[in-house]
Amino acid sequence: MRMVDLIEKKRDGKTLTKDEIDFIINGYTAKEIPDYQMSALLMAIFYQDMTDEEISNLTLAMANSGEIIDLSSIEGVKVDKHSTGGVGDTTTLVLAPLVASVGVPVAKMSGRGLGFTGGTLDKFESIPGFRIELSDQEFIDIVNKSKVAVIGQSGNLAPADKLLYALRDVTGTVDSIPLIASSIMSKKIAAGADAIVLDVTTGEGAFMKNLEDAKRLAQTMVRIGKLAGRQTMAVISDMSEPLGEAIGNSLEIVEAIDTLKGEGPEDLTEMCYVLGSQMVVLAGKAETLDDARQLLKEALDSGKALEKFREMIEDQGGDSSVVDHPEKLLTARYESELPAKTSGYVTKLVANEIGIAAMLLGAGRKTKEDAIDHAVGIKLHKKVGEKVEAGESLLTIYANTEEIQEVEKLLYENIEIGDQAVEPTLIHGIVTE
Ligand code: URA
Ligand code: CA
Repeated sequence: MRMVDLIEKKRDGKTLTKDEIDFIINGYTAKEIPDYQMSALLMAIFYQDMTDEEISNLTLAMANSGEIIDLSSIEGVKVDKHSTGGVGDTTTLVLAPLVASVGVPVAKMSGRGLGFTGGTLDKFESIPGFRIELSDQEFIDIVNKSKVAVIGQSGNLAPADKLLYALRDVTGTVDSIPLIASSIMSKKIAAGADAIVLDVTTGEGAFMKNLEDAKRLAQTMVRIGKLAGRQTMAVISDMSEPLGEAIGNSLEIVEAIDTLKGEGPEDLTEMCYVLGSQMVVLAGKAETLDDARQLLKEALDSGKALEKFREMIEDQGGDSSVVDHPEKLLTARYESELPAKTSGYVTKLVANEIGIAAMLLGAGRKTKEDAIDHAVGIKLHKKVGEKVEAGESLLTIYANTEEIQEVEKLLYENIEIGDQAVEPTLIHGIVTE
């Protein structure tokens, strides 16, 4: 087989066979196929798309390019949750202890932030002492003991995806449905969960800017998951404005603690119930979504979920006193308010640009090697649909420098205030087929 023939085949809109896809992924992972040929193929896929069968063959080839984790020594149905990316997306921090507190094992493999999106690992690391590097055995032991643990992606998990993602990032081929679907699902399949709940985001703060594309991405991933023998479903959620009020690592830990106390932002709390109920049903701990929601609500109201968060922090070496004293985490040197210039209703908070503002403060990375500042970020006081008076604070900026003019300018440019109240939509649909 010759790579050039396969590039031409895809360029001309034909379908690649399983053997051809295996040849490509194995060859590229072994560094026998050079980046320039792979780049040409990625661009051909971007324009010509792939059939469902091609996408599942690509996903399985990528999953099989490295280690497939065996979680069978953890009792029960292991459920994973994965978001396609967002701004201020604090759900995992709440969901992991919440769902575990009703007896569902949560063996969560999470990532770091890049660009305007945040990463769950970075957020957990803002808790002093918290370790995300656990051996496989330590990870399994903790989940068996406490039902929940979170770790980083190990070096040999879907290495083909790691190589391809880096190449896509610099060749204009990130936002392609077959490439995103195979990238995410290869990692989920390799990470070993029995059931997968996908949060497919749509809007300015997501890869899929429109609902049609988000639906197709969701349907594609659900189909692949099922073909791979994993129960899979997707929630299509809105990411045109940031989720919740906090954007930034320590700030989101505080927001998660508030939410686990029943005092969190409405949209984040609802998102956790929607995704959490799906996880509980897939794990077989409740028959209906209503029953699952009731279980989760009881765990939250009784303080059981918050206790689980405390236990989770201790299991992973962290200082759990932050649960009672979250103010310990708020260590940024400067806090400043951003006053509204006019009165009216907030009609737009452009998620990706607000994510960039948080990144400029130091909460995120411009390149994979950048260090991040856990203390900094943004706390929104007005969300889309809320009324605001001129001079009232729209948000607080937490910074470690006084030079925040550029950030303030960017924020003003991306917050719209109008005369008409608008009603934001949180959930755009559920995909199970
Ligand atoms: N997240 C991933 O892991 N891969 C993509 O391609 C997009 C989002
Ligand atoms: Ca948030």
